[in-house]
Amino acid sequence: MPLVSMRQLLDEAAKGGYGVGAFNVNDMEQIQAIMGAAVETKSPVIIQASRGARSFAQDRYLFHLILAASELHPEIPIAMHQDHGNSFETCKSAIELGFTSVMMDGSLKEDGKTPASFEENVEVTRRVVEYAHPRGVTVEGEIGVLGGVEDGHGAGGSGLDHVTDPDQAVEFAERTGVDALAIAIGTSHGAYKFTRPPTGDILAIQRVKEIHARIPNTHLVMHGSSSVPQEWLQIINNYGGDMGQTYGVPVEEIVEGIKNGVRKVNIDTDLRMASTGAIRKHLVENTSNFDPRKYYKAAEDAMKEICKARYEAFGAAGMASKIKATSLEKMAGKYAKHELDPKVK
Ligand code: G3H
Ligand code: 13P
Ligand code: ZN
Repeated sequence: MPLVSMRQLLDEAAKGGYGVGAFNVNDMEQIQAIMGAAVETKSPVIIQASRGARSFAQDRYLFHLILAASELHPEIPIAMHQDHGNSFETCKSAIELGFTSVMMDGSLKEDGKTPASFEENVEVTRRVVEYAHPRGVTVEGEIGVLGGVEDGHGAGGSGLDHVTDPDQAVEFAERTGVDALAIAIGTSHGAYKFTRPPTGDILAIQRVKEIHARIPNTHLVMHGSSSVPQEWLQIINNYGGDMGQTYGVPVEEIVEGIKNGVRKVNIDTDLRMASTGAIRKHLVENTSNFDPRKYYKAAEDAMKEICKARYEAFGAAGMASKIKATSLEKMAGKYAKHELDPKVK
């Protein structure tokens, strides 16, 4: 199957009432882990690259690795997505490269740190939509600001500082025509989300529900969805690492979000922790080994287990075969006929 648009995957997820995992990648091992798990569980998947990832892997390496995944596993629908685009130019370059979906994160200015005004956000996001939709490419926008900073990207602070306002979400969807919308509901990027084990209502799930009820076909996205597995935190620290005590978003809370309208779930930190922990452990336990393939394999297996558990928990397992690829040309036709416009209630 060719790479598909993210809009198609999220429309299918909405029909089936499940969530699609969106995993960040920088290298081949991450892609193989995500795909290995998708194949075993028969799940559709979003593979996403941040600006940092594109620069680390020099764009074309990453593009061709993801393309290789779709050639090797034609039974798995894959959307290739730009994560946190900071400008029109970043999104345009991703589309020119062959990405089937882009995020224009206009909630922050181009520096990726300073909160932007609502009007600035609408302006730049609408420009990206006008460029992407005639090419059949999906656009994700963001309003409200997540907490935390990851690799220089983020406004900092706690996740509950700037929870998304439902009226703004509706106006934003109407004025930009985005396909998907990242909303701030209390999560933050990176490993340091919560200092205490989170209890029942750490996330503003009610907000998800309210926003979903008013813009039902604009798919909601939950960033900062890593669960920060305590077992991997311990392995990292037991094998020479030094991470502070911290907690992530419990998987059950994400599942609650999905029940209330979340369709895309962004995960990066969990795979970073699993691979770091597995490599540390391998190297300490196998001091004579100098073949990187051995510790890369340990990292890949660790990441794969997490991906499998997430696909299953989010209800995406078994859904791959229900999806028949719609070409980007066809998607462009649907946009032109206004079949995919936001339905505002
Ligand atoms: O949202 C941010 C992702 O975790 C990507 O992080 O910019 O360090 O690649 P990165
Ligand atoms: P985590 O840091 O929680 O994995 O979030 C990743 C993310 O939102 C990527 O856009
Ligand atoms: Zn994010």
